[in-house]
Amino acid sequence: MQNESVYRELLEKFVKQFGREPSAVAYAPGRIEVLGNHTDYNEGFVFSAAIDCGTFFAAAPSGSSECRLVAADLMHEVVFDLHDIRPDKENDTWQNYVKGTFAGLIEGHDVKEGFLGMFLGNIPLGSGLSSSAALEMCTGLCLAKLYGIAVEPVPLAKIGQKAEHEYAGCKCGLLDQISSLAGKAGMLVKTDFRSLVYETVNMGNDVCFLMCNTVKHELVSGEYDQRRAACEAAAAHFAKELRHPVTHLRDVSMAEWAIYKRGLDETVANRAAHPIGEDERVLLGAERLKRGDLAGFGQLMFDSHYSSRYLFENSCEELDFVVDEARKIPGVYGARLSGGGFGGSVVVLVNPRDAETASVALANAYKAKYGTPCNVSVIHPSDGAHTL
Ligand code: GLA
Repeated sequence: MQNESVYRELLEKFVKQFGREPSAVAYAPGRIEVLGNHTDYNEGFVFSAAIDCGTFFAAAPSGSSECRLVAADLMHEVVFDLHDIRPDKENDTWQNYVKGTFAGLIEGHDVKEGFLGMFLGNIPLGSGLSSSAALEMCTGLCLAKLYGIAVEPVPLAKIGQKAEHEYAGCKCGLLDQISSLAGKAGMLVKTDFRSLVYETVNMGNDVCFLMCNTVKHELVSGEYDQRRAACEAAAAHFAKELRHPVTHLRDVSMAEWAIYKRGLDETVANRAAHPIGEDERVLLGAERLKRGDLAGFGQLMFDSHYSSRYLFENSCEELDFVVDEARKIPGVYGARLSGGGFGGSVVVLVNPRDAETASVALANAYKAKYGTPCNVSVIHPSDGAHTL
């Protein structure tokens, strides 16, 4: 298994760098977002799954207040003091995910000793598979074990989210962290981002996912935060217009949107329609899955992408091309962008029988159009983060 060789490489490099074995190791996977886009921070619903690649974090006590942290793919080391944890926005920005998670984890705990830490993973960066959340969650689980700190999944997810907001600079929701923690082999995770209650849902054996990694996305560049701000502005507008309480777009239906969007700037109204429509699609999707209606579920994925493309405008030419191509391939039920958008990956729901031919067809079509290959891999929903 690919993950096992990553684990072995990490252990070898750890011993070489620090001259000792780690005392704790944890693993956290990336995630795919299957249905429900930009709904998490609007307190709505999402179907997601943990995937079969991720990141390992290994740690040992440092013997002083110093922390030494190494990204094992680059073999770059950063050093900081336990009493002075600050983000670095210029150099080795990967350190911010670890530092932010560590700072959140030890808040309120009397921690006197730093750590020797190293991480290594196999999630392609900028692919929309949440390599950053995987890093936060394996850091959190590993250091919680090292320091004997008990932390439940939802509070740990919130620590990771705070690291993104305050150390990395992206105002993300909780989707990536929760999916990485809650995943189960062969299952989707359906989360209600108001109650933060999640359940696993079986999709059966007649489906698998393809991830088509197109162009790199960059969530910290501001587009994500602008979309979030537009959703919040729209929620404030609906709170004034509607008779029932509205704190987030979760509280507005599509029917209400159509009537009460009057007075909203057209772009902001379109932005709002996306998460509102997505919530309805997730709930409808849950019913269709229960009935085993995979074609119906897949159609909702196509509808979701259409809404991203024309209303939320978080797609891009390459993602649209892959979705349009996927639609032509026999055995494909649905396809849409996955995650923040503005690049990254398309998730394709396909019959396992047709997965190989669909992968080749998509990769070839992409190469013919753009001259560069797009990496297509078969994804199996997998178990979530754990210590080893
Ligand atoms: C990114 C964010 C998530 C979520 C998705 C879009 O992955 O990190 O919190 O908002 O985009 O659904």
